[in-house]
Amino acid sequence: MASTLCAAFAGSVVASAPALAKTPPPKPVLDASAVAAPDRYGADTAQQIFAAGGNAVDAAVAIAFTLAVTRPEAGNIGGGGFMTLFMDGKPYFLDYRERAPQQATRDMYVDDKGNPVPGMSAVGHRAVGVPGTVEGMWEAQQRFGKLKWKQVLAPAIRYATDGFPVEPWLQQRRDAAAKNFAGKTNFDAYFSNLKAGATLRQPELAQTLSRIASDGGREFYEGRTADLIAQQMYGHGFVTKQDLLQYKAVWRQPLAADWNGYRVIAAPPPSSGGIGLIQMLKMKADLKPAFDGLELNSAPYIHLIAQIEDRVFADRQQYIGDPDSDTVPTDRLIADAYLAQRADEVKPDEVPGASPVTPGLGDSHTQKAQTTHFSVVDKWGNAVSNTYTLNGDFGSGVVVDGGGFLLNDAMDDFVTRPGSVTAATAATTAGASAEINTVAPGRRPISSMTPTLLLKDNKVALVIGTPGGSRILTSIFQVMTNLYGFNMTPADAVAAMRFHHQLLPQKTIYFEPYQPIAGELAEQLKAMGYTLEAQSFNGDVQMIRVEGTTPEPIADPRGVGVARVMR
Ligand code: DON
Repeated sequence: MASTLCAAFAGSVVASAPALAKTPPPKPVLDASAVAAPDRYGADTAQQIFAAGGNAVDAAVAIAFTLAVTRPEAGNIGGGGFMTLFMDGKPYFLDYRERAPQQATRDMYVDDKGNPVPGMSAVGHRAVGVPGTVEGMWEAQQRFGKLKWKQVLAPAIRYATDGFPVEPWLQQRRDAAAKNFAGKTNFDAYFSNLKAGATLRQPELAQTLSRIASDGGREFYEGRTADLIAQQMYGHGFVTKQDLLQYKAVWRQPLAADWNGYRVIAAPPPSSGGIGLIQMLKMKADLKPAFDGLELNSAPYIHLIAQIEDRVFADRQQYIGDPDSDTVPTDRLIADAYLAQRADEVKPDEVPGASPVTPGLGDSHTQKAQTTHFSVVDKWGNAVSNTYTLNGDFGSGVVVDGGGFLLNDAMDDFVTRPGSVTAATAATTAGASAEINTVAPGRRPISSMTPTLLLKDNKVALVIGTPGGSRILTSIFQVMTNLYGFNMTPADAVAAMRFHHQLLPQKTIYFEPYQPIAGELAEQLKAMGYTLEAQSFNGDVQMIRVEGTTPEPIADPRGVGVARVMR
């Protein structure tokens, strides 16, 4: 099936543009291009784009549009995300995170007594932030792509027009979301035909994608699509045509840190992920004597990691937000001396929760689940690590009438009242959040999305990322330490058991259905004072390791992803 689709679409990509490349291709430095995508359509799309002469950015942009069709719960044009790139020997980071609309206010999700209104920031029109995905894809492709814009949209348009067979897992997620949105949004009416075994065709989405393909990415913000979004919001939500006109993706300096002989290239604020990942990696390295000889995922190992994570999440809830609206002390948070001092607080024999963990910079400096990831390398040595999101499954549940696409509920990543807990901040994020992450016009909410690259001698060595809210950074950390600390194969490193812990709820270790914590390990952790909590999801890592000139892509066995090498 996959190869049939591939052949059909390869035809459409090639036919629409006889002159494929804008410049002659540089000499390949890898044996092949590779992709790890969260579904087979994403992998097929990458294959077509590489066959047509595209590079990693062309493939990434084409995958993002494809997933907007084939993974409607997470892939999107109505959401936002982050892209970490390595192009022609240099790292880049593109922030296309959603922003609060101009009419947003600090107290928009609290009642007249100041209490957060349940669900208000997560479901329906008021939960929607100004989407960034199309602008992000446009920026990336215009700056670095080799193919024509239309070519990279062709596979997605075809999937939306011709449809694709719905698998049972997607219908299950649709059914769960429909219950959540019932009576509050137009979700059910729109996606009632999403049924296992049936072909899902999305003609309105096909038209929207075709407009974007012919008129360029700004069509979404200035053209008919912008009008449709504004109409959908009118009288119900806050996003206006003006908000759309003003939206711009931002090229930021990626975070960079040396670790274990590699250069880590990670997501800067408004992501908390890059800071958190670097903090975890460095604290664990500082604690080498304590870790020496400990078995992977043994109770004492989990206990040390949990203490590291307490410190990461204490800092994250206090100091990280939109760097364009407030100062984030990024350099201080990843400084070696600071992390050595934080690591020093971690004690193998400390009883969990015995001493409160507070933000570590010692001043009040700032006082003031659905997402998907894919990784791509091309044979020229370029790489793209991209995570983007609607936030919850199917976002706000609001479909743009006439446009055929879902809008995000990214506003739920703000704190509605400092110190309060939202759906996003309870089990999924830090449990409480500071002033820096309150709602303000134009502000971007804190994110956990952590598309990451590792470089060795200024060449790509690893491309990695995952969905999972606050589990994103802890999952990436675990896979990286499995790979480099325990010398596992890439497949084993991704498949190995993962657990999650963060500052709140205290003393809680989350385990996953894929490899539950049970038996003796469970008893040992309970005896130490931990509570064990089942969670339904602990990431869907899409990773490519490059050894020498050979890329090895791995799709997480927890999901339906596909890894493919393309010569
Ligand atoms: O930006 C964030 O951190 C969240 N909106 C991501 C949500 C997520 O990963 C849910 N996926 N499972």
